[in-house]
Amino acid sequence: MDTVCYAWRKKRKYSVNIVIFSKLTFLLIFLSKQYCIISCGCYFSTSSQRRSRFYSDPAEAVKDIPNGATVLVGGFGLCGIPENLINSLLKSGVKGLTAVSNNAGVDNFGLGLLLQSKQIKRMISSYVGENAEFERQYLAGELEVELTPQGTLAERIRAGGAGIPGFFTATGYGTLIQEGGSPIKYNKDGSIAIASEKREVKEFNGRHYIMEKAITGDFALIKAWKADRAGNIVFRKTARNFNQPMCKAAKTTIVEVEEVVDVGTFAEEDIHIPSIYVHRVVQGASYEKRIEKRTVKKSQEQKAKPKKDSDIVRERIIRRAALEFEDGMYANLGIGIPMLASNFMKPDITVHLQSENGILGLGPYPTEDAVDADLINAGKETVTVLPGAAYFSSDESFAMIRGGHINLTMLGAMQVSKHGDLANWMIPGKMVKGMGGAMDLVASAGTKVVVTMEHSAKGGKHKILDKCSLPLTGKQCVDRIITEKAVFDVDNTKGLTLIEVWEGLTPEDIKACTGTDFEVSPNLTAMQQI
Ligand SMILES: *[C@@H]1O[C@H](CO)[C@@H](O)[C@H](O)[C@H]1NC(C)=O
Ligand SMILES: *[C@@H]1O[C@H](CO)[C@@H](O)[C@H](O)[C@H]1NC(C)=O
Repeated sequence: MDTVCYAWRKKRKYSVNIVIFSKLTFLLIFLSKQYCIISCGCYFSTSSQRRSRFYSDPAEAVKDIPNGATVLVGGFGLCGIPENLINSLLKSGVKGLTAVSNNAGVDNFGLGLLLQSKQIKRMISSYVGENAEFERQYLAGELEVELTPQGTLAERIRAGGAGIPGFFTATGYGTLIQEGGSPIKYNKDGSIAIASEKREVKEFNGRHYIMEKAITGDFALIKAWKADRAGNIVFRKTARNFNQPMCKAAKTTIVEVEEVVDVGTFAEEDIHIPSIYVHRVVQGASYEKRIEKRTVKKSQEQKAKPKKDSDIVRERIIRRAALEFEDGMYANLGIGIPMLASNFMKPDITVHLQSENGILGLGPYPTEDAVDADLINAGKETVTVLPGAAYFSSDESFAMIRGGHINLTMLGAMQVSKHGDLANWMIPGKMVKGMGGAMDLVASAGTKVVVTMEHSAKGGKHKILDKCSLPLTGKQCVDRIITEKAVFDVDNTKGLTLIEVWEGLTPEDIKACTGTDFEVSPNLTAMQQI
């Protein structure tokens, strides 16, 4: 019994040895291969082994962009735009481009240059704004414009890079975006030559959402701050915006940077875009970094200007709007009256301001010496940030907004209906500003929407109506209306209730200048001011 057992044990021991021996051999072979790979990697790490190629001439980096290409162009206003790459396209003379970009620069800088030279066939953007040539070409039927809500645009690009063909969002439900038929191209006579497509609607947990498709590009033209020699990228302040998601959504991503640095100059955990997304890197020779709206802190003497009637009306709205802020709130404020209201906030409360171009913790305007072209708000004004602030990309910003993490949004309006429909982005055939981020902000379920506006339009036309006649920004989305004459609470099914009225005015006076009926609160008070 013992001997048999011994023999068996011996045999087993032997076979175990064979296994160990063969494993060691494999390990050795494996390690030597790894060593070879590691050493090759060291020798060739910045050239043929990596995806990113380095160019010294921006013209060389864009020369294979063909006519009719779709190019994703980073930037918000003039902040973080690839100025050298755009100038190279201007020189290359490439035509018929579809440009996906939040804005189109200004008349004589940024993408505005390629509009002037008629190299762009179609723009996919959220905001035309103050670019007169952009608006003129569109309304004259010379340019196709696919206006897309800013958050939807950012997410369509993000989805494109992430391999998601489409997604559902509440943004744009009940507006022209969902209904389709919005003009992409006008005929010379002002009729619509190309209309936008209708979107599929789906209900999730009792809310309506529309389907939006991903966007990908043939090329992405990106402006970043620094690239290391491996092709990893970092952005600076609010110059990140659309650049970050766009890096991932094109077949060929071309990044211009201010500086190329050695690997390790910025830490691995601080990299915004890993090199896998970066095909070409070029260091720009110089950067103008033009500022669209240079705003600085006003000194005391400048503030005390004599007041016009319109200033008095505005200040009344601002001083009422400031009472909407509560301690600990996160708020996104439209440009103009809403932003000015933050100056009148009670001193004992803290409100965190979000700016949709990529800031949480917005501060006041800078002093002259602190103006920074890479730090603007969503109104394209130069700003500062407060201690504890954070910067992020446009897709992240709108995830924050769409996800209901913002408590309050205040914005202006052209029209509001009694059920809280809001119109503030276009007058068909006449004026088109674009919706920017407004459609996303008002579509967020968790966010209180407060409209601040003058009670009536110029000439006394009603702005508070039974039904809006202008294209909507959002349906049944407004919670409160503040004007220089009155404050209304809005119930999205029951309608308006007058809760405050300016001293000296009566509910009858308000009826006379309002285009719809309303309830009067039993607790009606005089309009409060801070
Ligand atoms: C802000 O919203 C969050 C939920 O997203 C909520 O928990 C918080 O109480 C709100 N804060 C204020 C001041 O309204
Ligand atoms: C009016 O005020 C009273 C007492 O503060 C309150 O109970 C009531 O809900 C208010 N009514 C309305 C319509 O706001």
